Amino acid sequence: MLVRMFSVMVKKFLDFPSRSALYNSIHLPWFARLTLLHYHSGGPTMAMIALKCPDIEVVVLDINEARIAAWNSPKLPIYEPGLEEVVQQCRGRNLFFSTEVEKHVAEADMIFVSVNTPTKTAGVGAGKAADLTYWEGAARMIASVSKTSKIIVEKSTVPVKTAEAIEKVLKRNCSDSSVEFDILSNPEFLAEGTAISDLQKPDRVLIGGKDTERGRKAIDVLASVYAHWIPEERILKTNLWSAELSKLTANAMLAQRISSVNSISALCEATGADIQQVSKAIGTDSRIGGKFLNASVGFGGSCFQKDILNLVYICESVGLSEVARYWESVVTMNDYQKQRFVERIISAMFNTIKKKKIAIYGFAFKKDTGDTRETPAIDVCRGLLADGANLCIYDPQVEDKQVRLDLATPKFEWDHPVSKASPVSNDDNITTTKDPFEAIDGAHAICILTEWDEFKSYDYQKIYDSMVKPAFIFDGRNVLDHDKLREIGFVVYALGKPLDPFLSNGYN
Ligand code: UGA
Repeated sequence: MLVRMFSVMVKKFLDFPSRSALYNSIHLPWFARLTLLHYHSGGPTMAMIALKCPDIEVVVLDINEARIAAWNSPKLPIYEPGLEEVVQQCRGRNLFFSTEVEKHVAEADMIFVSVNTPTKTAGVGAGKAADLTYWEGAARMIASVSKTSKIIVEKSTVPVKTAEAIEKVLKRNCSDSSVEFDILSNPEFLAEGTAISDLQKPDRVLIGGKDTERGRKAIDVLASVYAHWIPEERILKTNLWSAELSKLTANAMLAQRISSVNSISALCEATGADIQQVSKAIGTDSRIGGKFLNASVGFGGSCFQKDILNLVYICESVGLSEVARYWESVVTMNDYQKQRFVERIISAMFNTIKKKKIAIYGFAFKKDTGDTRETPAIDVCRGLLADGANLCIYDPQVEDKQVRLDLATPKFEWDHPVSKASPVSNDDNITTTKDPFEAIDGAHAICILTEWDEFKSYDYQKIYDSMVKPAFIFDGRNVLDHDKLREIGFVVYALGKPLDPFLSNGYN
């Protein structure tokens, strides 16, 4: 799951009189495309294009044979509600999955590139700047096999002005001087777990390109693809840098809302207010809006932290240190929230969790996905393990191997391709299970770290009866019925809510 050097290709062609037609006609009946995609958004996006544009042939490319085999099998390599149905409708019709990267790149008219852009772990900008090694590698490969002009669409989240650098790499590495590359930025705004509906009805599609006649034509060609199903007024056209910066800023602002609400959740616990009531009250102000105001154990996912750190680095690079510190505090608050959760657990359980069995419910970074990248569960589990707890982890979508890989992978290394030498935790204090009731058998506590719907419908009386007393529940997502749990006899910690007297710790 952590291997994300991923290529996707979309092509279609034939009947394509000359490459210049690409720019003369924006309503192309046939047309070719290839993508190197980052693993989660790439597959769904290309599948949706294939579904909505039967006149376009889409080929998804990946150098990883196992991954392509999975895309060609009934069990897709990622879990995304609704994706299977979309793939089934188009696979073999105008959607293909292949490892023949160079062949398809050479044939393509348009290439979507969405490779990993991990945070640098060494050298200048370590811990913040994006590592563009994979992007540059993709660009060099494209240049070396291209015999015809192509539109290159930047899909990965990349630091502002990457397109400029990539254009230089493409131009200088292509031996055929008649080949032209037009670079577009087309950031993806879909969220995992809702990818298919986000793609079907996006709030907007953003296309950035050069402000030249040629650049505008390239923008129009890509816009004509989305126009197959998206109303024209939702397709926004900007310059390249605005599109790149908009992506980073959108994620930074979404994450900032969560960190803001999480900061207030700590204040609620200290004062007796209820964060869900506060969120509702402020969310009804139409200027604020109700989305992304759920307090949580922390935000995760492959993008928020990485994009903010990128923004921080860019600000530092241009001498805007106050702006950099402002955005950095969003990540600091997120780390604080995870740490605070761990400390709350330890202090509630009489300041010792050594050798105590703790059930972890949910390891994915959010519900309806098996993705664990930057999941808050990693830091919370590490914190509990550091204090000697025995963890039994249950997640409906995450496999044992993934949990062990995540708990052993150093910070910022997760976005690099997994090799055979990648560390896997053999810690005896970690077990995983596919049975949620096995996880709680003989446990002292349950920690809810992902908001899976199924957690709401469990028989908590039965669970309580199988646990050591006092039985604790630490709800890091506020998804359970806390009053009912208290009636059963649980000691309940609900994030950002008035504390049980058992836990009040002298604050109220
Ligand atoms: C995010 C953005 O929402 C997408 O628009 C963007 O395209 C995507 O990143 C990306 O750059 O690829 P995603 O990471 O899939 O999407 O998931 P989100 O729904 O944004 O959730 C991110 C994290 O925030 C999760 O851990 C979630 O549990 C947490 N969260 C979300 C909260 O803690 N509280 C909330 O109110 C909302």
